[in-house]
Amino acid sequence: MEKTFLMIKPDGVQRNLVGDIVGRLENKGFRIAGAKLMQVSEELAKTHYQEHEEKPFFGELVDFITSGPVFAMVLEGENAIDTARLIVGSTNPQQAAPGTIRGDYGLTVGKNIIHGSDSKESAEREISLFFDENEILDYKLSN
Ligand code: CMP
Repeated sequence: MEKTFLMIKPDGVQRNLVGDIVGRLENKGFRIAGAKLMQVSEELAKTHYQEHEEKPFFGELVDFITSGPVFAMVLEGENAIDTARLIVGSTNPQQAAPGTIRGDYGLTVGKNIIHGSDSKESAEREISLFFDENEILDYKLSN
């Protein structure tokens, strides 16, 4: 079964959106394989967002993601990566469809509430960056 990485960013945590967002993902049918509230270090932020290193907003992105706790998750389900991205919505909340997390809660691209892995490679990389193997649990949902 496919696994993906999602992270509620500091703006989502500050706005008390964790419960709502996790609820949407659980309702969809994903299994929560790992989850934790954590402070991202500058080193982890720079590694996670490595592909944006040359972008003009890189400094701002690192400052923002390290500005307060994030809620990191590993979710599992059929086609989890693409399905979770549909629920998350487009990167720029102004273009994200209503009904998506970013479409419902975000207004600016810098503070877009949540991050989701965009490919199998990123999912594997991001899961191993944020989670130790023993933090990812293998159990069955009853439904
Ligand atoms: P995310 O999915 O976490 O991946 C990279 C992030 O860079 C993206 O969400 C946005 O929050 C952020 N980002 C993209 N474009 C800009 C921009 N023009 N200004 C600030 N942040 C941006």
